Amino acid sequence: MAGFLGTPLANQLVKEGNEVIGLDDFSAGNAEGLDPAVRLVRGNITDRELLWKLLQGVDCVYHLAAKVIVPDSILYPSEYEKVNVGGTVTLLEAMRDVGIRHMIFSSSGTIYGFQKEQPLKEETTKPKPASPYAVSKLASEYYINTIGRLWGLEAVCLRIFNAYGPRQGFSFTHAPVIPTFLKQSAARGTVIVHGDGHNTRDFVYVDDVVTALILASKIRNPQELVINIGSGIETSVQEVLDLAIKITGSKPEIVYNQRRLGGPDRMCADLTLARKLLNYEPKVSLEEGMRLTYALDRRLHKQTG
Ligand SMILES: NC(=O)c1ccc[n+]([C@@H]2O[C@H](COP(=O)([O-])OP(=O)(O)OC[C@H]3O[C@@H](n4cnc5c(N)ncnc54)[C@H](O)[C@@H]3O)[C@@H](O)[C@H]2O)c1
Repeated sequence: MAGFLGTPLANQLVKEGNEVIGLDDFSAGNAEGLDPAVRLVRGNITDRELLWKLLQGVDCVYHLAAKVIVPDSILYPSEYEKVNVGGTVTLLEAMRDVGIRHMIFSSSGTIYGFQKEQPLKEETTKPKPASPYAVSKLASEYYINTIGRLWGLEAVCLRIFNAYGPRQGFSFTHAPVIPTFLKQSAARGTVIVHGDGHNTRDFVYVDDVVTALILASKIRNPQELVINIGSGIETSVQEVLDLAIKITGSKPEIVYNQRRLGGPDRMCADLTLARKLLNYEPKVSLEEGMRLTYALDRRLHKQTG
């Protein structure tokens, strides 16, 4: 709850008058930026006894806690299985024991993997996860839907595509393209593009994701629902780079690193179901979202002095 997506979600829920309890082990998140009204508890999603205590009196669970670094998951798949899948199942058991029926789960567009046919559709595109991270998200969906059916749980799994915005975690090993390009461009040094720039992704601004998560909690009696959340627009890595250069007003040197494996070559979400079931409509264009990200995230600016 104290991560990149959890923080603005918790803040928005508080703003709408809800009482919010957050759980995070602070392995990636921190309390910075979180509304003080959020009761944040340090702990692990696999700790059933802690979950029992925290879940007393709760109406709806937003399940976002996870390890999220794809290359890391290739090196340490058992950790991803333990936290992402094991954590989901432990949470489901604790919810059953305490009597909570509503869950919104942040799944991922990565479960689709390499697909020729775009856009990717929940009902007809057969998932082909290409990393242990993606497998852990798909396995969690299956547990939520199967257990949900058996125990009468009402859950919605949102397959979130490439979310971006201020405070997104990034480092040498975890380098989401938008903050990385903005920071490298702003530094007026070298921008490294993995691949030839033609790979595409569906980039969605954090505020649109938060809106979708909250809309999902309002569906009545959901039954095994899985819904894509993205912008519905396929954008190449080169287009993102061009925008980063335009926004930062820089002229960086660009190096194309053809050797590194870069995941699926194309990804674009079909939003038909999201529009129909959630009345979801992405509001923030990529240029607007990247401008907001750059304006609001001081870590991306050139360090002086
Ligand atoms: N950001 C995206 O583009 C995106 C896309 C698809 C799905 N998602 C999913 O959305 C969720 C949030 O992602 P994010 O981008 O905010 O990442 P994030 O790393 O910022 O947030 C994940 C949070 O989970 C916490 N966490 C990790 N292991 C934990 C554990 N064992 N117990 C308790 N807390 C733990 C971390 O400390 C962190 O605060 C994740 O489930 C992720 O898989 C994100």
